[in-house]
Amino acid sequence: MSRYTSAQERVYSEQTIHWLQLESIPTKASIDQLRDLIRYHEWKYYIKNNPVISDYEYDRLFDLLKSLEAKYPDTIHADSPTQRVASDRISTFRSVEHLVPMLSLANSYNAEDLNDFDDQVRKLCLIQAQVPIEYIVEPKFDGGSVALVYQQNHLIRAATRGDGIYGDDISQNIKTINSVPLSAKFAEHGIHRAELRGEALIRKDRFLKINEERKSKGEEPFANARNAATGALRMKDPKETAQRGLDLFVYQMGLAEDDQAQNILDSFDTHQATISLLADLGFKIPQKEIKLCTGIEQVIDFCKAWEEKRDSYDYEIDGMVIKVNRIDYQKKCGSTSHHPRWAIAYKFKAKQATTTLQNVRYQIGKIGSVTPVAKVEPVHLAGVTVSSISLHNEDFIRSKDLRIGDRVLIERAGDVIPYIVKAFPEFRTGDEHLIEFPTHCPECNTPLVQDLGEAAWRCPNHLCPAQIIQRMVFHISKHAMDIDGIGRSTIERFYALGWLRDLSDIYDLDYKRIAQLEGFGPQSAHNLRLGIEKAKQKPLHRLLHSLSIHHLGRRSSKLIAREVNYIFDLQHWTLDQLESIKDIGPILARNIMEWFGKEENIQMLRRMESLGVNMRQTPEDLPPKIAEDAPLRGKTILFTGKLLRLNRNEAKTMAERAGAKNISSVSSNLDILVVGEKAGSKLNKAKAIGSVRIISEDEFIRLIGK
Ligand code: IVH
Repeated sequence: MSRYTSAQERVYSEQTIHWLQLESIPTKASIDQLRDLIRYHEWKYYIKNNPVISDYEYDRLFDLLKSLEAKYPDTIHADSPTQRVASDRISTFRSVEHLVPMLSLANSYNAEDLNDFDDQVRKLCLIQAQVPIEYIVEPKFDGGSVALVYQQNHLIRAATRGDGIYGDDISQNIKTINSVPLSAKFAEHGIHRAELRGEALIRKDRFLKINEERKSKGEEPFANARNAATGALRMKDPKETAQRGLDLFVYQMGLAEDDQAQNILDSFDTHQATISLLADLGFKIPQKEIKLCTGIEQVIDFCKAWEEKRDSYDYEIDGMVIKVNRIDYQKKCGSTSHHPRWAIAYKFKAKQATTTLQNVRYQIGKIGSVTPVAKVEPVHLAGVTVSSISLHNEDFIRSKDLRIGDRVLIERAGDVIPYIVKAFPEFRTGDEHLIEFPTHCPECNTPLVQDLGEAAWRCPNHLCPAQIIQRMVFHISKHAMDIDGIGRSTIERFYALGWLRDLSDIYDLDYKRIAQLEGFGPQSAHNLRLGIEKAKQKPLHRLLHSLSIHHLGRRSSKLIAREVNYIFDLQHWTLDQLESIKDIGPILARNIMEWFGKEENIQMLRRMESLGVNMRQTPEDLPPKIAEDAPLRGKTILFTGKLLRLNRNEAKTMAERAGAKNISSVSSNLDILVVGEKAGSKLNKAKAIGSVRIISEDEFIRLIGK
C-alpha cells in the first residue's frame, strides 16, 4: 500500500512548484500545508527511495519552513519536520548513542545570507562591526558523515550520523578505510577519549571506474559518488566496503576528554589548532583546501572562488562550511537543537532541478544523425537557464520512458551539458503523450535509416539542406578550419540566398555583394575575407578534419596528414594502407575510402584547390622532431596558474618541441611543474610530493632556450 494516492501526489507536485516559486508572502494558515509537503518529500526520499525534487529544492522548502516558524513560533508542533534531524538508520546495524549530538548545519545561498550570519555572530559575541572575525572555511564534502571514537589512543567505534543522537555502529566497515588511523597518539596531548567527525567519500575518478565496472557486469550504475559512498558504509560484508575504495576526511573534533572525563576542547584556542593537531596525529584533513579568512568579505570571495572550481576538485562537494575560528566565540554562540550558531553551510547553486518536458524537436547533424532535443520549461540550473536538452537518440527516450508533458528531473554537472535524469511517472495526469520518433527526415522528408549497431537514426540524403548547413558550420569551426568573421547565422543566411551550396563556395564568396547586405558593410566583408584567405593556408590535418567524414576526428586527421603528401593521394589508397596507420580502425578506413570514392567530393576538393585552399602536407602536419639534446627530452610537464608571457597553448607546444610530454594532473609521474600567477592546489600537491621540479614561467623560457 502506498501512503499517498496518485491524485494526492499530483496535488503535492503543484504545491511544490507553488512553494518553490513563491511570489506572495505566505499566510500563517498555509504553514501546515508546507509542513505536509515537506513530510511528503521526506517520504519520497527516505521511504520510497525515489525523491521527486533535488536536495537543493528540499533544503529551500525546509529553510522556508524554518523562517516561517521563527515568525510564528506558536504554530510549531513536536512533529514538525524541523523538530527532528532526518534519520538514515537501518536496523541491521547496532544502534549506538553519540557522545555528543551530531548536529546539522544551517544553510546559506548568497553573500547576503553570509553577511547576516556574520551580523548574528557579532551580536552573540558582542563584537563591534569594525573588528573582522576570523573564520575557517572548508569544503562541504558530499558523502556519508561518520563519528569516530578514540579511547586510549585506539579507534574503538565508528558510527553513522543517524538521527544525530543515535547512529549505526559501522566500526568494521570504517576500519577497512586506509585513511582512518586505527590508533593515534591522543594521550600525548592529554586526551583520553575523543570523538571526531568526518565524511566518507569516493574520489570522482574512482567513482567513474566503479560505475564502468558495474556497467560491464550488467549491474545498475550508481547515480552519484555520494550514493556509492553511503552505500559502501552500510555493506554487510566489510570486504565489500574495502573494495569500494573510500577516503575519509576528518573536519571536526566534537569532543576531547581528559582521564577525569572532563571535556578539554576549550583548552584549544581555535578550530584551526584542533585541526592541525588531528593532521599531526595522522588524520586525513583537507589542509590544502582550508582557508583562514579574516572578515566575512574574504569568506565570500573564497566561497565564490570554490564554486567556480568545484568541478576540477577530486571529490564531490556541495558547498563550503564556514566556522568561527575561536573556540571561546563558538561557546558564546552556542547551538540550537538543529545546528550550531557558530557555523553555517554555503550551498553551491543547484546542479539538479525539476521541470516539464514540453516538446521534442529533431536536429539533423553533419552526417545526417537525427538527435531528439527536448524543449523544457525554462529553469535555473547551476547558474544558467536551461530550456533545451539533448535526448541523444530513440533508445535514450525509450529507456527513460519519457513522455511529452512529463515532470522531469534534470542535472548539470560542471561543464557537462544538462541531461534528463528521469521522469516522474507518479505525477502523470493522463494528458501526457508518447514521443513519436519520426520515420522521415523533418528537413527533407527522406525516409530515415538506422546503421547496423548504431542507436541513431540517420537521414541518408547527403544533399539534405540541414546536413549541408551543419557541415559548413563545422568546416568553419574552431577545431576545423577556424575561420574568423563568420558563424552559423551567416552561413544560414548565405545558404538561404543561394550563395552556398557546398564547402567550396565558402572560398568563392562575392565580397562586394556581402558588403551591401544589411548588417554587414565593407568592414565586416573585409574581415570575412581576411578570415577566409587565412584559412586557405591551414595545414592538411585541419582540412581533413573539416570534411565531416564520419569518425574522422582531430586526432585521426593528424595521424593521416602525417602520412599523406597530397590530399588526392587518398583516392588511390587501399583499405590495408589506411588501416596500417596506427590507431586507424577498419570502420574509419572504410568511411575515408567511401568519401574519396565519390566523384562529387573530389570535384569539390578540386574546386577548393583552384580557389587557393592548401591541399598538401605542411610542416605543421608533421610531429615535431625531437633532437637528442632537446632540453626537456623525455620529461613530463604541467603548467598551472596564469602565465604572463606565453599563452597556455603556446607554452604547451613549446614544451613539446623541447621534447616534453604535457600531462594533466600532478602525481609522482610529473617531472616539471611550471607555475604562473595564482597557482593553487596543483602547486601544493607538487610540493607535497617533493620530487617534482617547480619552476617559474621565466625559468621555463630560459630552460627551453628561447
Ligand atoms: S561541520 C557541528 N564541516 O554537512 C558541526 N560538516 O549539513 C557540524 N559536512 O552532517 C558539521 N563537510 O556531514 C562540517 N567541512 C565540514 C563538512 C560537514 C561536510 C556535512 C556533515 C553534516 C552536514 C551538515
